[in-house]
Amino acid sequence: SEPLRLGIAGLGTVGIGVVKIVQTHGDLLAARFGRPVEITAVSARSRGRNRGADISAYAWEDDPVALARRADVDIVVELMGGEDGPALALTRAAIAAGKDVVTANKAMLAIHGQGLAEEAEAAGVALRFEAAVAGGIPVIKALTEGLAGNRITRVMGVMNGTCNYILTRMEDAGLPYDTVFDEAAQLGYLEADPNLDVGGIDAAHKLTLLTAIAFGTRPVFSAIDIEGIQRISIDDIRHAADLGLRIKLLGVARMTGRGLEQSMSPCLVPADSPLGQLKGGTNMVVIEGDSVGQIVLRGPGAGEGPTASAVMADVADLARGLRIAPFGQPAATLEHVAAARATAAKPF
Ligand code: NDP
Ligand code: HSE
Repeated sequence: SEPLRLGIAGLGTVGIGVVKIVQTHGDLLAARFGRPVEITAVSARSRGRNRGADISAYAWEDDPVALARRADVDIVVELMGGEDGPALALTRAAIAAGKDVVTANKAMLAIHGQGLAEEAEAAGVALRFEAAVAGGIPVIKALTEGLAGNRITRVMGVMNGTCNYILTRMEDAGLPYDTVFDEAAQLGYLEADPNLDVGGIDAAHKLTLLTAIAFGTRPVFSAIDIEGIQRISIDDIRHAADLGLRIKLLGVARMTGRGLEQSMSPCLVPADSPLGQLKGGTNMVVIEGDSVGQIVLRGPGAGEGPTASAVMADVADLARGLRIAPFGQPAATLEHVAAARATAAKPF
């Protein structure tokens, strides 16, 4: 049968992870999807860079937008990152060219997601982004498919591994914020703009997407009340510990009588609760639905393998002809309660 042909823009941590999965699991993927998956073309900034994987068999495009227009590309996989710029230009070009798009770019989607979803719907193509929320945890699939029979009442969790690493390292080693921040920088955990992590913005991007999917609303980043972890001191951590509590950067979205409330802020959780026990760069998402009750998803929120694994989940759906749009449907009209605090949410 006809191969499914991928064009990958962005060959960094995640892009190379996807290349490696396609290269090492070719037989497995072909058996599962009923058709082979091939990479036909790639694009990144520096052509000559050694990337730890052999990409010599793929056509190279200096301009990522050119990738979208290639006749030998069925799915454009956007893994460059950035809220707008080339990632947005590529995504728009791919949709306009009638290509399905798979992306991990939560920053772009939190701001431009609704418009892109509408463009994709109008063009009859899919826009998929499992990897954009909680890395390797298949949380979008859980919401759109596994929990499709539920009215979702609350979604919350730890969605930024770097902040969770910093907070748990402060607790475990008794080290001040600045020292652990420097450690995280040296370990390469921080985004190029560290404020995206410690300012709670990256986690709020993810919550924006999760909320829209869970509650059938438009993704509205500006509706989230955001506070980062920069002002958490070692004394805060110690006082919390004295009370049997831990501090977590917690995203909460819940439906109330006034509408949808969303916040991303440091919260106290019981030290012996699943959230309190969450260590290092791990993510945890708690979902409550009226039929299922509460479910908890836990796993790696970042990294080459986990994030590429989530990208391939979207490729798998498209290969099998499953074209559910996570958001952007005409039903997505509920309004948000602007900047409402949800800190009174009962802790998990
Ligand atoms: P990297 O910085 O490792 O890689 C980015 C890639 O995009 C590089 O190959 C770079 O080229 C290429 N690129 C950047 N700008 C341009 C441009 N203007 N034109 C062409 N190519 C460009 O990013 P990641 O792999 O870490 O992240 C990719 C996406 O996945 C982002 O949206 C990120 O938020 C998301 N994500 C990442 C996770 C992770 O754990 N890393 C987890 C979840 C989501 P070159 O290599 O030549 O410089
Ligand atoms: N900076 C993000 C984190 C990367 O620490 O969780 C994964 O989205």
